[in-house]
Amino acid sequence: MATQRKHAAIADKKHNGSEIQAPKGKLGVMIPGMGAVATTFVAGVEAVRKGISKPIGSLTQMGTIRLGKRTDARSPKIKEFVPLAGLDDLVFTGWDIFEDDMYTAASKAGVLEKELLDQVKPFLSSITPRKAVFDRNYVKKIDGPNVKKGKNKMDLAEQVRADIRDFKKKSGATRLVTIWCGSTETFITPSAAHQSIKAFEKALTQNDENIAPSMIYAYASLMEGVPFANGAPNLTVDIPVMHELSRQSEAPICGKDFKTGQTLMKTILAPGFKARLLGLAGWFSTNILGNRDGEVLDDPGSFKTKEESKLSVLEHILQPELYPDLYGNFTHKVRINYYPPRGDNKEGWDNIDIFGWLGYPMQIKVDFLCRDSILAAPIVLDLVLFMDLAKRSAELRGLGIQEWISFYFKSPMTAPGLYPEHDLFIQLMKLKNTLRHLRGEELITHLGLEYYD
Ligand SMILES: NC(=O)c1ccc[n+]([C@@H]2O[C@H](COP(=O)([O-])OP(=O)(O)OC[C@H]3O[C@@H](n4cnc5c(N)ncnc54)[C@H](O)[C@@H]3O)[C@@H](O)[C@H]2O)c1
Repeated sequence: MATQRKHAAIADKKHNGSEIQAPKGKLGVMIPGMGAVATTFVAGVEAVRKGISKPIGSLTQMGTIRLGKRTDARSPKIKEFVPLAGLDDLVFTGWDIFEDDMYTAASKAGVLEKELLDQVKPFLSSITPRKAVFDRNYVKKIDGPNVKKGKNKMDLAEQVRADIRDFKKKSGATRLVTIWCGSTETFITPSAAHQSIKAFEKALTQNDENIAPSMIYAYASLMEGVPFANGAPNLTVDIPVMHELSRQSEAPICGKDFKTGQTLMKTILAPGFKARLLGLAGWFSTNILGNRDGEVLDDPGSFKTKEESKLSVLEHILQPELYPDLYGNFTHKVRINYYPPRGDNKEGWDNIDIFGWLGYPMQIKVDFLCRDSILAAPIVLDLVLFMDLAKRSAELRGLGIQEWISFYFKSPMTAPGLYPEHDLFIQLMKLKNTLRHLRGEELITHLGLEYYD
């Protein structure tokens, strides 16, 4: 009843805004997995800070938000509307199984050109990875020397907690956020070990195989009261124990799997087909990519995790149960092929078989020559800043899952029993309305009859 009342109040057109602490001091960003995405993100932040480049693709840095009526002409930048940490206040650490500092790792990833990297070299070289929690049973294709040893998984979690405290102390950060940019782990389904804090902690001490390394970082972060965002499709925080911990420690969680290339296109196109009631007979998506992520995904276990994440999108957007004649019987296939010559410059082909008036078939081909980490880096930045905002917001920090930032994910997390919203445009509206709500501005419904009074 109380929850219903709370939601009714939230649905009110206008309230007075809610308390948000000011972003004072430094924000520490902790990244398990310092590969292509992480280094492109950190190098990019430093390049923007130095005025070398612009933060293209980042909603928090370049996006605006309309307030009030169209005739009011009020559209501030999002970063001026809500109190976000400034880029100058970001400090970084991370963990990786390889010992390379961020300059070396970025050079090997081959995403950014040497000329740009050299301009931020001293900064990148100063960030070296902490020893990782790693187990080849969860990521088969890679192995490295920079790995923690411990008597059991609980011991490893304690070591990560000590890393977190050490970083906070040494960097002088007042707040922290963890964002998983590590490899995609093998497919795991929720099990008894994931159902409660008690069961999970017992399982940690018993080295239960249902606890993947990413869950150990997540557990450590949440126990330290630090928000955790998951950029990979791994189960990680999408289990009851993490929901419980997150609410208990008021450390927000979100995930899963950054929505970058092909799935971004899918969630742009599919809402358009549905809006115009065009039917779908099939959608075949194939990718070639040659980075380390591609190599990891060459393993069937890791691919299965990714495939599940990529496949769920269309079902939820198209709602076959509401539109059986249009979407009741479509074929959806996703293939990922590891092809080294392409490096991080992926190519994603889509063949889309649609049908229109009287069932007449048509085809659409999309060939997206994209750069994976270039698309992912601004998402990492936005998630870090929004998760820190959520942690400082009296209204958001105790909610656990931050569904309002579904916009950034292929498999958005939701409260149990709630279907995820995948439509990019609804996700954006939800995000912006949440920000308006936090600041006590009127929600925008796009009704607009009053303009014709
Ligand atoms: N680039 C994109 O567009 C995109 C989109 C969605 C999701 N993702 C996901 O983001 C993640 C990172 O992608 P990437 O291209 O940077 O991959 P990458 O292989 O370049 O980097 C991943 C890094 O994680 C490290 N790692 C693996 N397990 C670890 C562990 N347990 N602890 C610490 N480090 C660990 C690896 O050594 C590697 O350096 C992947 O899971 C990928 O699927 C990427």
